[in-house]
Amino acid sequence: MHIKIVQSSERSVEVSVHIMKDFTASDFSLSLSARGLESKLEKGELVEIYSASILHLLARGPQSGEACRNLGASILHSLRERGFEQCSFHTDCPADELKDIIFGIYSSAYTFDKYKTDKRFESTLELILPDVDTSSLEAELSSVLQGVFTTRDLVNEPYNKLDVSTFCALVSQYGDEYGFSTEVLGKDQIESLKMGGLLGVNKGSVNPPAFMILTLEDGSKKDSAPIVLVGKGVMFDTGGLNIKTPWKHMYDMKSDMGGAATVVGTFIALAKAGIRRRVIGLLPLTDNRPGGEAMTPGDILTMHNGKTVEVLNTDAEGRLILADALSFAKKYNPKCVIDLATLTGSAVMTFGHIASAVMSNDTALLSAIKLAGATTGENVAELPLWEEYGEALKSEIADIKNLGEPEAGAISAGKFLEFFTDYPWLHIDIAGTAYLPKPRAYRPSGGTGEMVRTLLEFIKDE
Ligand code: BES
Ligand code: ZN
Ligand code: ZN
Repeated sequence: MHIKIVQSSERSVEVSVHIMKDFTASDFSLSLSARGLESKLEKGELVEIYSASILHLLARGPQSGEACRNLGASILHSLRERGFEQCSFHTDCPADELKDIIFGIYSSAYTFDKYKTDKRFESTLELILPDVDTSSLEAELSSVLQGVFTTRDLVNEPYNKLDVSTFCALVSQYGDEYGFSTEVLGKDQIESLKMGGLLGVNKGSVNPPAFMILTLEDGSKKDSAPIVLVGKGVMFDTGGLNIKTPWKHMYDMKSDMGGAATVVGTFIALAKAGIRRRVIGLLPLTDNRPGGEAMTPGDILTMHNGKTVEVLNTDAEGRLILADALSFAKKYNPKCVIDLATLTGSAVMTFGHIASAVMSNDTALLSAIKLAGATTGENVAELPLWEEYGEALKSEIADIKNLGEPEAGAISAGKFLEFFTDYPWLHIDIAGTAYLPKPRAYRPSGGTGEMVRTLLEFIKDE
């Protein structure tokens, strides 16, 4: 569904939304108490009342940003269910809250329907905001929505429409359009950089790997220490020779480039909002599949930093390509490095689809991300990186192995990555949050764009 914001309108509306701090003095108080709906209103729920053939949706001004975004989702749900195409908005809540409510509406109106040939169900909802300066509201929302929606689109594209080379072409085009620079390193350059992890995972593929570098400059001091964002870009994860068993929903694994898509969405949002910070994006890109040449369990890889890895499970491929990107990040003398990855089923088992798992070697960085996540409503839940968890990764014949114990899998993946870092670093496992089996309030099913807003919030304040 498309949303269109209109400042004012002469037309008579069918639906009118009222979000007020207080209803006791309003026209609705009588019908609310007559129908016993007052207590519902107390809870911040949306109440529906018909009066003079207009549907009124009433809610008390919610408190938190997340409550506002959720309310936006309920409003859209109500309107969409009945097929309404316009509504007028009346509110006395502050501009920030209204922005969050409107974001909730936009966010839940997102659909990925470009491959549907029947366009009959396409509709537009007009939001009429008579008393609000809609131009500043729209400007503020458009950059974050563009970032979040692009991430969703990239995650939702299946492998036959988005492989390594089409991804690189598309992201280069976004760079030109929004104003960040992009560089694509091909297989030859990846070989000269001795990125054994990325090359190893790519061995079974018919398509070559790529390593993308995105750059956003801060305008003035060109060599200030950058924030580096690393994103796992496994375009499709079959598991490789340790092929995924059917019950694991292999078809969802088109979303295994969710980390890379999140970094791209963040760059778009930053550039479009005109936020000037020095940010580097590093995206190792390949698919993971079996084939005559495929990486074989037991293989030993020599990584970009010269360390050796014994590959005991080819389905633990994300950490291999991330390890190369993390050691490559050192050359930027980064202020901090944040990696994003749909890394482990264990993170999904631990936090479900409600929170991303975070691990860090830096308490200040961890608190900053927790704070940013609390603002955006994108839950980040901390897991420890205690030394004991690293024991299981010791290999008898190489420096480290890519498979730990079956328990605490999200943490052993984090410990593996930590081995390749020597700067303030934070890892976000978005396996449960980047892609949803069913909608969650204002998040649609499929790609969510989760963490784009949190990264934006974090970088803005750096
Ligand atoms: N891409 C998967 C992780 C994943 C699982 C993402 C579910 C989204 C939803 C990753 O490459 C993987 O297969 N991890 C294995 C690691 C194991 C072999 C140590 C896992 O979690 O099972
Ligand atoms: Zn895997
Ligand atoms: Zn994977």
